[in-house]
Amino acid sequence: MTSTRTIPFRCPHPECGNLQETADRTGLACDKGHVYPYAPGTQIPVFADAPAGSSEYSIVDAAEIHDNALRWLFATFCTDEDTLRENLISRLGLVPGQSLLVTGAGAGNDLPYIAEKMEGRGTIHAQDIASQMLLAGASRHGDALSAIGIDIRFSVCDATQLPYADRVFDAAYHYGGINLFSSVGQGIAEMNRVVKPGGKIVISDEGLAPWLLNSEIGKQLVANNHLYACQAPIALLPETARDVKLSFELHNCFYVIEFSVGDGPLPINIDVPHVGRRGGSIRKRYAGRLEGIDPALKEAVYAEAERVGESRVDFLEKALRAALRT
Ligand SMILES: C[S@@+](CC[C@H](N)C(=O)[O-])C[C@H]1O[C@@H](n2cnc3c(N)ncnc32)[C@H](O)[C@@H]1O
Ligand SMILES: [Zn+2]
Repeated sequence: MTSTRTIPFRCPHPECGNLQETADRTGLACDKGHVYPYAPGTQIPVFADAPAGSSEYSIVDAAEIHDNALRWLFATFCTDEDTLRENLISRLGLVPGQSLLVTGAGAGNDLPYIAEKMEGRGTIHAQDIASQMLLAGASRHGDALSAIGIDIRFSVCDATQLPYADRVFDAAYHYGGINLFSSVGQGIAEMNRVVKPGGKIVISDEGLAPWLLNSEIGKQLVANNHLYACQAPIALLPETARDVKLSFELHNCFYVIEFSVGDGPLPINIDVPHVGRRGGSIRKRYAGRLEGIDPALKEAVYAEAERVGESRVDFLEKALRAALRT
């Protein structure tokens, strides 16, 4: 499954649709009057920007400070950036020509690894809520990726309210920031919404494997940074998630969730009859429950069903149908 079509931005307001460039070419606007300016000197739309100083990612030199944090991370976990990022990105199973959304892309460190997997042919949309990080990422990687043929787009927006239509990307990827989203569940739901059925989603962030939480090294890591106490948000996956895998990287200190976007209900047959004393099926036992009756009558019904060799459900259905005919 490949995509060659450019993926347009869509107004993130629920009732709106596509966006056009404004007449003065300073941003994008929808036909309901919502306007999103480009970041100064760029064509990068700003849908939502974290207020300056509201986090370590929205301050001057945020990208350089983050570079330093990454050096600490790889030295602490005795690995290197190539090994970790190639490992995580390879799980997407990208092929040339596909389209990928990167949420919380920060200063864009994953982008060259993704472009390599796409062999220089494909579409990458990278977003982050902190313009200081995202604009650094665009200036570090934008031209180089375009030069090798990647259709690369950046936007400053909230990963919990993405500016895209449903089912437009082949895959979505996130590393290192979802624990900080205002709603982790909404961040996952949005990635799931914008990926086509069958597409792959990979999400990783700090989070000790549960068996390490009370270990000495676990307590030291959590004291150092409380995000290590976060647990893999596996319960927040959409009901339609398929082929779900939970694993851990960086010596069991970062969770990795992988899943495919499902389409429609699970292919479970809820009408297979149960053989045995109770009888019925999943549907009948769940949706066919009646009001309470006299417990003595209930026991008498069960006893009679057993005596005539019928399941309780078959016996009751027969009796009720007979009652309705009279
Ligand atoms: C630790 S950095 C990781 C950056 C990058 N993914 C990397 O691997 O280097 C976390 C990023 O998540 C971003 N972030 C936090 N909340 C966000 C949200 N609601 N929407 C988009 N990005 C968000 C931060 O601004 C920051 O750039
Ligand atoms: Zn709008």
